[in-house]
Amino acid sequence: MRKRDANLFSRRSLLKSSFWLAIILLFYPFTKFILSLPKKRKKEIVKVGFLKDIPVGKPILKDDVWVIKIDGKIKAFYNKCTHLGCPLSFNGLIFVCRCHGSKFNLNGERIEGPAKRALKALKVKITPDKEVFVKI
Ligand code: FES
Repeated sequence: MRKRDANLFSRRSLLKSSFWLAIILLFYPFTKFILSLPKKRKKEIVKVGFLKDIPVGKPILKDDVWVIKIDGKIKAFYNKCTHLGCPLSFNGLIFVCRCHGSKFNLNGERIEGPAKRALKALKVKITPDKEVFVKI
């Protein structure tokens, strides 16, 4: 009878261990996904630099913000594709999403999908001493 009790005890502890292992394996991917979600960014102001330092027709990337001087105006776009939020790169002519290849022109308008919307335009402020700030 004692041997049987010992077997039961070890079987019970094995079942307990298996249960907790199953719980960990079940929730691990979910927990990993939750932790990988991007944190919501607080509203912030990005100091881009002086107006004279922004080249015409060639965007510069500053703190997740693309800033471009085009048609005599300063435009700013968030460095995030409107499809699934991947960062963009500039190929010399247009913005291209690094993940699935959406393309946007220098005005942030969508040229080609899978993104359905234009880039998010950001508010630009130019101070009297010609310093450029962008509000994210
Ligand atoms: S995230 Fe940019 S095209 Fe999918």
